[in-house]
This record gives sequence, C-alpha cells and structure tokens, in this order.
Amino acid sequence: MQDVRFSVAPMMEWTDRHCRFFHRLLTRRARLYTEMVTTGAVIHGPRERLLGFSEEEHPVAVQLGGSDPRELAQAARICEEFGYDEINLNVGCPSDRVQEGRFGACLMREPALVGDCVAAMKAAVRAPVTVKCRIGVDDQDPEEALNRLAEAVVGAGVDALIVHARKAWLQGLSPKENREVPPLDYDRVYRLKQAHPALPIAINGGVRSIAEAKAHLAHVDGVMVGRAAYQAPEMLLGVDPELFGEPAPVADGLDALERFEPYVAARLAEGVRLAAMTRHILGLFAGRPGARAFRRHLATEAVKPGAGLETLRAAVAHLRRAPAALGEAA
Ligand SMILES: Cc1cc2nc3c(=O)[nH]c(=O)nc-3n(C[C@H](O)[C@H](O)[C@H](O)COP(=O)(O)O)c2cc1C
Repeated sequence: MQDVRFSVAPMMEWTDRHCRFFHRLLTRRARLYTEMVTTGAVIHGPRERLLGFSEEEHPVAVQLGGSDPRELAQAARICEEFGYDEINLNVGCPSDRVQEGRFGACLMREPALVGDCVAAMKAAVRAPVTVKCRIGVDDQDPEEALNRLAEAVVGAGVDALIVHARKAWLQGLSPKENREVPPLDYDRVYRLKQAHPALPIAINGGVRSIAEAKAHLAHVDGVMVGRAAYQAPEMLLGVDPELFGEPAPVADGLDALERFEPYVAARLAEGVRLAAMTRHILGLFAGRPGARAFRRHLATEAVKPGAGLETLRAAVAHLRRAPAALGEAA
C-alpha cells in the first residue's frame, strides 16, 4: 500500500526544488510534491529546468496538469525516467488558465476521462500513480461527485487519492479564495475512506499542526499539508518523531540552516540567486526574538546582486544576538 501518511502539498511558485531540499532537511519521511507541471511543458519544454531535482529530495512526487490520456502517459514516462517516486494528476486547481486547458478542478465533472487518464498513466509507468482532487465543483453534490470520481480512478488502478476537503467554485472566486472560502468538509473525506477501505486516502485542507494531522489519521490514511508547512516550516520537525516514531534529522531551525549552507553554496556557484533559495525560509523562527530582523535582513539583502552565504549568516546572527537586543518581538 502506498505510504501516504504525511506529505507537503504541491504549491505553484512555492514548492520548487530549493524549497523541497530545505523541507527535506526537517523531515526524512514526509513525501514532497513538485509544483504542478503541465503535460505540454514536460513534453516540449526545458526538461532539466522544469523537472530537475536533487537526490536528497526522495521520496518526491511530480504533479502533472493535463487531461489528454496519451500526453499524460508520455509525460508520466518522462517523469519516471527523471526518477520521480510518484506521478500525481491535478484534479483540483481552479485557475482560469487551467479551466481553458480543460484540466485541474473542472475534471471533477468528467470522472470517466480522469479514469482514462489514470489508466493510460498506469500503463506507461511502474511508479505509483495518484490523483489530487476536490470534493466537487460549483453546484455538484459532493456525495455523488466524489463517489463517481473515486470509482473511476479506482477502476483505473489508482494507487492513492488525496482529497482537498472543500469544493472549488469555478466562477467568481480567485484560486486564493478557492483555498479559503468554500467550507471544509472533513467528514465527507472520512466517509469516502469508509466506502473504499482498500484505497489509500489522504486528506488535505486547513491542517495547521502535527496534532491536527494525528487526529485526521484516526479516519484516513494520510494528511497533506500545504500553507502551514510552508509558512512555518519548523512544523515539519514534528513529522518524523510524532508520525513515524523516528528522530528528527536536525535539532531545530538553526541546525537545518547550517545543513542548508553547502546546498546554497553549490547553487550560488551555479548562478542561482540567493533570494531564490532564502525566500523559502522566511517563515522560520516565527514568534521568536530576532525573527523579524532575520526576515527583514533576507528580504532586503538576499535580493541584491552578488548576495552570498555571508548574507544568510548575517541574517541568522540576528537570532543569535536576539536575547541581548532591545526586547524585539518577532
Ligand atoms: C501558493 C499555492 C500554490 C498552489 N499550487 C497548487 C498546485 O500547483 N497544485 C495543486 O494541486 N494544489 C496547489 N495548491 C493547493 C494546495 O496544494 C492545497 O491543496 C491547499 O493549499 C490546501 O491545503 P492547505 O490548507 O494545507 O494549504 C496551491 C496552494 C498555494 C497556497
């Protein structure tokens, strides 16, 4: 059975390879997801730039956006050759651009097509093929819409289903509003698990802590966390000890940053800008003395041309200096 116990959600512009490498320093066991990549980009685009990742990121899943079974099969094969551990299909993104391409959340209306997509991907790769969906869109009845989608993908041999426990409203809401406005309905996902005991099911949406994740695990096989993990990454330090009974790979955020340095240095040498990496660590140390100065330092200095490791170290020094500082609240 696919281990879906804990994962960090796919997030466009956020979960790029630098972000995933950093998250991996905080947890060995969480499954990490890429940003969504469209089949067209995978097939025709600059593959190394779009799909390249570090060996340390495993287990890492790629998320594909598309709705043409043949193209999805081809893209899945390419991703498997890159070494991804799982191929995930996006059936949850509500953006206009995605709707024009007839994929993402609007596929909730076309369960048979989603089944065909999964079957084509399964036939093309040995890696597990999973789907991330919503409980419905617009005026759909979530009981029926989610059941039909689940039955279609189970029939096609899907290895796991991740359900963002709210509807997407395809008209009138921005993608951001579609992550906040439609109400969460965790019970709907719990009922799906009861109806499909053999199918690994992970729940997603609004989970803010490891304690909350644990509570969900009484009802479903796994929990996927997006914004909370990105915005306060130290949450991930609890994953290995509390959900897998294994020690965390590092003691704390400072320890993680020390281990991040060789990676940052290697990327800087390749011409990656410091800010492209440090933007993913701005949520560290939230609420602690010096955190605000740490963030401010990175936000203003890391974007400057030529910014290097010394900039990162100077930002960290604000934290080490903090107790003697003027009682700054983060
Ligand atoms: C900045 C951002 C980008 C996102 N991009 C994607 C994406 O590419 N694919 C996807 O399936 N979901 C995407 N999502 C949705 C998340 O994966 C997740 O379903 C949603 O944020 C709810 O989980 P959370 O409450 O734990 O954040 C994105 C969310 C955010 C905040």
